[in-house]
Amino acid sequence: MGMHEGRAALVTGAGSGIGRASAQIFAREGARVAVVDLDEAGARETVDLIASEGGEAFALAVDVADEAQVESMVAATVERFGRLDAAMNNAGITSPSFQFHEMPLEEWHRMLAVNLTGVFLCMKHELAQMVTQDVLGAGRGTICNTASGAAVVPAPGQPHYTAAKHGVVGLMKNVAQEYASQKIRCNSVLPGITDTAMLRASFEANGPEHRKRLEATVPGGVLVRPEEIGETAVWLCSDRASRVNGQGVIVDGGGVLR
Ligand SMILES: NC(=O)c1ccc[n+]([C@@H]2O[C@H](COP(=O)([O-])OP(=O)(O)OC[C@H]3O[C@@H](n4cnc5c(N)ncnc54)[C@H](O)[C@@H]3O)[C@@H](O)[C@H]2O)c1
Repeated sequence: MGMHEGRAALVTGAGSGIGRASAQIFAREGARVAVVDLDEAGARETVDLIASEGGEAFALAVDVADEAQVESMVAATVERFGRLDAAMNNAGITSPSFQFHEMPLEEWHRMLAVNLTGVFLCMKHELAQMVTQDVLGAGRGTICNTASGAAVVPAPGQPHYTAAKHGVVGLMKNVAQEYASQKIRCNSVLPGITDTAMLRASFEANGPEHRKRLEATVPGGVLVRPEEIGETAVWLCSDRASRVNGQGVIVDGGGVLR
């Protein structure tokens, strides 16, 4: 039996990369999945991939930085599946690199709106639903946010990204502390340099030197695969991780130890 048999899951940023791989793994483990992304076409492709393996999913076009849309996202998931057992708040953006003293304020706001406020809004509305649910298996619900190795060591030229990802880990700790007694867990996965569209965009935006600097930090030179992040996130959200709460799990092959 799959780890999420009979459960309902939601993954943001699931139209691509880590979110897509995670949504597919949730479905393989038995969950019905709300596939959420700003990019509706990407979300629909993920739904098709899940359906082609016999899984059940539906697509939702949502901007996670918009509270009304996030509230509707949770409502639509509950309307479809009856409850929300597992939420992976994964949607995120990258940006060109800047020297700290040259960072435009609008870049700071753009980054924080999606990568930090977006996670806050998702957790706020997911929790509002989870506290109303009966306990099923080990709890009322679980959340896993996608942070980053940049929640531990700074991303070069990306102080706004670093700040947002440290913030994601901070929010996780608050939620883990406040909701443990209600049997709701919250953890984070901290990916290393992972082979996705975001990484390729960052290589393009910041040039070959940036690419070399990042690749030099990857153990054995092999980038992390999105599935390797998804396997960890899906496990963290499962009853098999029933006592894991408030933890940030680094999935980078040991790159952070460089
Ligand atoms: N790829 C890496 O090396 C890496 C490393 C550490 C952390 N991460 C984190 O992993 C997460 C997923 O990134 P990825 O590498 O799979 O990138 P990706 O670009 O492949 O996927 C990100 C998805 O998020 C969606 N998205 C962006 N803004 C959104 C918004 N406002 N509302 C809803 N959806 C939105 C995009 O449309 C896209 O489909 C991000 O939070 C990122 O910061 C990635």
